[in-house]
Amino acid sequence: MTTNILLLGADGQVGWELRRSLLSVGKVSAITRQDCALTDKAALSALVASHKPDIIVNAAAYTAVDLAESESEQAYALNRDLPTLLGELARQRDILVVDYSTDYVFDGSKNTPYIERDPTAPANIYGASKLAGLLALQNSGCRHLVFRVSWVYSSRRGNFIKTILRLAAERDELSIVSDQIGSPTPASLIADVTANCLHLLAAGRGQEGVYQLAPTGQTSWHGLAQEIVCQALALDMPLKLQPDDIKPTPTSGYPTPAQRPANSLMNTDKLTHAFQIHLPDWRQPLIHLLREISAKG
Ligand SMILES: NC(=O)c1ccc[n+]([C@@H]2O[C@H](COP(=O)([O-])OP(=O)(O)OC[C@H]3O[C@@H](n4cnc5c(N)ncnc54)[C@H](OP(=O)(O)O)[C@@H]3O)[C@@H](O)[C@H]2O)c1
Repeated sequence: MTTNILLLGADGQVGWELRRSLLSVGKVSAITRQDCALTDKAALSALVASHKPDIIVNAAAYTAVDLAESESEQAYALNRDLPTLLGELARQRDILVVDYSTDYVFDGSKNTPYIERDPTAPANIYGASKLAGLLALQNSGCRHLVFRVSWVYSSRRGNFIKTILRLAAERDELSIVSDQIGSPTPASLIADVTANCLHLLAAGRGQEGVYQLAPTGQTSWHGLAQEIVCQALALDMPLKLQPDDIKPTPTSGYPTPAQRPANSLMNTDKLTHAFQIHLPDWRQPLIHLLREISAKG
């Protein structure tokens, strides 16, 4: 029997990649902002009732981290209230909910990579709203599979990689924050791992629950910017600067409305053991995106 999948947030970085990867799992109904007001309880209930999904994959979220500090109502509507409602609907109908969480549920003060069971302490509204959503989903009693991800990039929308390429084509020197560390994660990896885990669950392997997902290795925003420039130059992209022209700067030199964790590193042992998944080094997938951007010109 065909598995019915309702994909919410299908135009986002992760949602867009899920359109492709989930095709191997079942029939995908891709829902965008135009199709349904996800913050409207009646509209969402009607959507679920009409599609009768076996799995709801929720890639919709309020992700404007700095703006969330002044738009907390909108952030909570998407990041807490939507998973709350999905949890209720899914429990009543025995639907599996796949959702995505963030390293921003942690304050970043730990000296080693976070594990799933570490105490949470969000340092900003976005992180607090996402944590409230995760807890609501867990407390609903519905079947759930949640991937905690960080530093997500893709070829869609504005993101750090595109910004660095643009600035590197315009300027002779850049200063980039060097005291925040993480593991840059392509949306395509998140989508592929999601599909892989759903296949394994369907085959009775692995387990539902909350898992951290990130490539191996670590870097800082400064290290990432240098790697982007290094790989882009190797592809003959027309840039004005060399990796050494990117100078390290502390977070204190780049104030933002939302506080960000210094340590975004997440231990992925739980995921790799439960689903026997091999994760790539963070540098490896970066080349695919740069090739895509380079080919577009
Ligand atoms: N980006 C990161 O670095 C990062 C880090 C950690 C965790 N995550 C988590 O990973 C998941 C996917 O993130 P992403 O980077 O793919 O986010 P994204 O690119 O910002 O996509 C979010 C999607 O949600 C949709 N959306 C937002 N508000 C909506 C509303 N009121 N009604 C309907 N749709 C709405 C957006 O629609 P439009 O396309 O119309 O705007 C967009 O398609 C999220 O749960 C996020 O919290 C992301």
